Amino acid sequence: MSLADQSAQELRKAVVHLMMDLPVLPVCTVTLTRPGVSEDEHIDDILSLATIEPCLSSRIFQIAAKAMPSHSISGIRQAMMLVGSRAVDDLITSHLQGQVFRPANDEELCMWAHFLLVSIASRRLAVQYKALGVNPQQAQEAGLLHDLGRLVQYENLAKSPSELEKHSYQNPDELIRAEEIVFGASHVRLGPVAADIIKVTTSVRASIDYHHSKPSSIPRKTAKDFGQLIEIVTIADEMAMFCHRWPIEDLVEFTHRAEHFLKNRSVYLKHVKPNPEELYQIMKTSYAEAQQSFLKLDLGPMPELDKGAHQMLYS
Ligand SMILES: [Fe+2]
Ligand SMILES: [Fe+2]
Repeated sequence: MSLADQSAQELRKAVVHLMMDLPVLPVCTVTLTRPGVSEDEHIDDILSLATIEPCLSSRIFQIAAKAMPSHSISGIRQAMMLVGSRAVDDLITSHLQGQVFRPANDEELCMWAHFLLVSIASRRLAVQYKALGVNPQQAQEAGLLHDLGRLVQYENLAKSPSELEKHSYQNPDELIRAEEIVFGASHVRLGPVAADIIKVTTSVRASIDYHHSKPSSIPRKTAKDFGQLIEIVTIADEMAMFCHRWPIEDLVEFTHRAEHFLKNRSVYLKHVKPNPEELYQIMKTSYAEAQQSFLKLDLGPMPELDKGAHQMLYS
């Protein structure tokens, strides 16, 4: 039965199964089983990896939720601290059951590059536009997991990377349509189901649920509490897509696209009036930081961007 035909209950069951098989990058196994380090050092090592690796980050939330189901958790660090050494043991056990997977082709590598770029750009946007009142750490965590629904489909993507690429999507909306055609369910449908299972923080949850929604369709309470955060992640997502996809030749072209996006989608950033050139600089520095993180994940160099995007970032 395809994902498209499943009832909500069946879909949840399918996603539970997919979540158990989340990929484990080799660097995570090495870090988790490193001998001769104190518990504090071990926790720090795991946390610094979890801030740049979405599967490890998801598992930490999952383990904390299992250990303390009634406790509301504010972030990955707190989740890890709450359950202490038990979390480390659980992580090792759960990782040994997972599938060690090294993204190899461009589509798989691009997926990790996208998580990183959105995460870092979200944090930098929160720092740059302080008037929005978004905590930069929260923004980074939300950016890292915003496409949780894509992560749970990684296996489908790994099996048939070119199927999705055949649709040559140019923006997030076209990606959603392509996923529905190829996999039967988009990441927008799977993400909230997966987030429910691993019990992420409410701020991360808001970005998973609404990063592709029109501002007017976000429930009032969510918009009040997390509207600015959702907007930051949405902008980082769209700008990352510029960098991955569009043949942007120069700053003028980027500025034009950024202005169009802000005019049509932005609610909160209208109040702080970002300069598109600032956005360009934020993406440029975020991309350089994402490259460094990519090396820390031992994934080699970031996959090649479109030639035009390269010119934009490095000219
Ligand atoms: Fe998305
Ligand atoms: Fe995304």
